[in-house]
Amino acid sequence: MIDGTKPFGPAAAAGMRSAWCGDLRAADDGRAVRVCGWVARRREHGEHLAFVDLRDRTGVVQCVVDGGHDLRPELVVAIEGKVRLRPEGTVNAELATGEVELGDCSVEVLGEAEPPPFAVSDRVDADEAVRLRYRYVDLRRPRMQANLRLRAAVNRALRAAMDGLGFVEVETPLLWTPTPEGAREFAVPSRLQRGSFYVLPQSPQIAKQLLMVSGVDRYYQIARCMRDEDLRADRQFEFTQLDLEASFVGQEDVRAFVTEAVCAAVEAISGRRPEIGTLSWDEALDRYGTDKPDVRLGMELTDLGAVLAQTEARALQAEAVRAVRVEGAGSTGRARLDALQDRAKELGAAGLAWMRVVSGDEGDADIDSPLAKFLTEQERRGIITATEGQPGDLLLAVAGPRRLACRVLGQLRVEIAHDARIAGAAAGSPGAGGGGHRRRGPGGGTDDDLAFVWVVDFPLFEDADDEGTPISAHHPFTMPHPEDLPLLESDPLAVRSQAYDLVCNGWELGSGSIRIHRRDLQDRVFRVLGISETDATERFGFLLDAFRFGAPPHGGFAFGIDRLTALLAGEESIREVIAFPKTQSGSDPMTGAPKPLDPASMRELGLRAAGGGTGRATQPAT
Ligand code: AMO
Repeated sequence: MIDGTKPFGPAAAAGMRSAWCGDLRAADDGRAVRVCGWVARRREHGEHLAFVDLRDRTGVVQCVVDGGHDLRPELVVAIEGKVRLRPEGTVNAELATGEVELGDCSVEVLGEAEPPPFAVSDRVDADEAVRLRYRYVDLRRPRMQANLRLRAAVNRALRAAMDGLGFVEVETPLLWTPTPEGAREFAVPSRLQRGSFYVLPQSPQIAKQLLMVSGVDRYYQIARCMRDEDLRADRQFEFTQLDLEASFVGQEDVRAFVTEAVCAAVEAISGRRPEIGTLSWDEALDRYGTDKPDVRLGMELTDLGAVLAQTEARALQAEAVRAVRVEGAGSTGRARLDALQDRAKELGAAGLAWMRVVSGDEGDADIDSPLAKFLTEQERRGIITATEGQPGDLLLAVAGPRRLACRVLGQLRVEIAHDARIAGAAAGSPGAGGGGHRRRGPGGGTDDDLAFVWVVDFPLFEDADDEGTPISAHHPFTMPHPEDLPLLESDPLAVRSQAYDLVCNGWELGSGSIRIHRRDLQDRVFRVLGISETDATERFGFLLDAFRFGAPPHGGFAFGIDRLTALLAGEESIREVIAFPKTQSGSDPMTGAPKPLDPASMRELGLRAAGGGTGRATQPAT
């Protein structure tokens, strides 16, 4: 369990205080203590006294001080006093220290403070831009303090688990070279070699594979990674991975290592080890329409292919027809149905068929839909049976190529569940994800509601690009499934890989794979990917070189610590568990970064501003 509130260790480590504010209890009655922190609140108490709530990172304690002190909020003070029980009737059951107060106090002001830009309280939600502008004040809030400590506890548990599994922590360079993993990368200009750039690693992928060639055998790192991608609730430019790689292992071994680390972290926070289910990528797509399913939401997809194999309904004639049943939503109005249809089209579907399940003439369930007249009775009945529809339900169906039909419905499924939860929360329904005061994680679950799933057997390639060349689903070093090797050239999109993801509540928490360690197979994969030998040598020749000197079979994984921590903290955005995050637009309102460099530094780095000399865009000086 997280604490952070326990004693200081050796007496010398106590610093200026002898107790934490939030630790004081009735059992401390009579104890003389010195506490340090920030004035949280001051209330007058009769003519000569005032109540001051003193806050440190552990909580607040009420101090009864001389009314003559001008103790404004956020002043930094040390207070010496004696712990005593509060008089009867004044106990505050909501406060951990609510049974006691400090009496006979003497106050020493250690630091002046201007009025804060917003109240330091979990009850006040200031605008995020203001919170980030004054992040140092924002972080004083108990919720943010708890998040920082929770994150530290996660890291501690991860390190202990990895050490226990025989992994060695190795730091890899930040000034690096491009990594072929698909994200846009940040470049750092070199002063000594003008016009040349380092690239910040989007992950330590290549470095850790080199460490396997080096015989490290089991490597891990709590690794900072940098990706210049569009920011969202679950994405930052800079983020942290638990990154690991091991030699002489298969994918089950890697998943076992990761399972151990994740379970240790979850247990350290919640006291419980989660169960982690497994789905194949195919099954995830068929049942949830995505490779990162939120399995808590119900509403699994149904395959209507067999029922509609001979259908006359033109709109439902396609490679695949999938449906989702929205329980009790049969009375959904036309405006909402139109909006759902528009959304399906926006997601790439040709259309969205809706069907209301109603009570038929003979008391059986039947379908009410603009398409109903094109469906035979057998088809209507088949649809109801396949979807397990009940009168009052709404069925939504998409026809098209399998991946598309599944993906569109998978996305609608999540959005419908999300909307229902918001509506339920507004109505105060307890079954709706706990609207009330409980904090909600991504997808709206509560923090004790984590549904981890392994997704395995990913395809080696995603759909081909415009020129028909397949694209790596993970990265070009991913090992194909041995059974599918004969298909590599003839039917590449059918080849499964030895790649696996860990998913939780609809978030991709991490991914990994067994790597190709043999040059002949790597060359075949490069050929399928359209990577020429010159290209390969130029981009990651140093890795291919290394493999010539004895590469062991190896594989690994990386998961996002920011995401895991946000899930465990019940936060909807990883920004809430990062001390100094960037805004959605990639800036830091506190430091003003990114900002133009001064002309002297520009010259030194051999850069000059492009775009009218605004200094906003730079290019190497020629
Ligand atoms: P991948 O690119 O899937 O795999 O990244 C692994 C995990 O890192 C986290 N992550 C992010 N978190 C916050 N902000 C971001 N911009 C961001 N991008 C990624 C996610 C993701 O699942 N080298 C491979 C791993 C391997 O094969 O060993 C890799 O980096 O949680």
